[in-house]
Amino acid sequence: MPRHVVLLLSGPNLNLLGTRQPEIYGTDTLLDHVGDARRAATERGWDLEHRQSNHEGDLVDAVHSGIGRVEAIVVNPGALTHYGWSLHDALAAFEGPIVELHLSEPREREPWRHHSVVEPLATARVAGQGGAGYPQAVALAIEAAAAEAPTTPPDTGDAADTGDSGER
Ligand code: DQA
Repeated sequence: MPRHVVLLLSGPNLNLLGTRQPEIYGTDTLLDHVGDARRAATERGWDLEHRQSNHEGDLVDAVHSGIGRVEAIVVNPGALTHYGWSLHDALAAFEGPIVELHLSEPREREPWRHHSVVEPLATARVAGQGGAGYPQAVALAIEAAAAEAPTTPPDTGDAADTGDSGER
């Protein structure tokens, strides 16, 4: 049976988590967060793929590689959140649910962080929860994807489907 896959994307500087401004982002590493995110996916019978890059084009490529292949995307775009229009456009081409994720709450920080280019595309937004946001965002992404494409086909009540319509 094909596996359901959620793609987790991490933008610039998130590879430095653990030592980067711990007063804002905490002391857990990106690997810690990816582990929590993966557990949330596995518990629901899903696989999680992760890609971190400091380069917008790599993230654009990662989104392209997910089109038609993964069912949901969770993205913490880092500072690209605020100006990454090519990432926006790539995500706009993705047909499944997108969850925007931030460790901090950018809306409560400097004014230039208040605008998000991803937000108009996002099914849900998780921010200001620290590391706890990772499993939350994965759960929301999976819920939204499952709602869009239920794994069990809805019962149409069409007797012909059962091969037992009584009329031959
Ligand atoms: C961030 C918030 C962004 O404004 C910032 O540029 C980041 C991290 C967060 O997770 O809180 O790199 O996305």
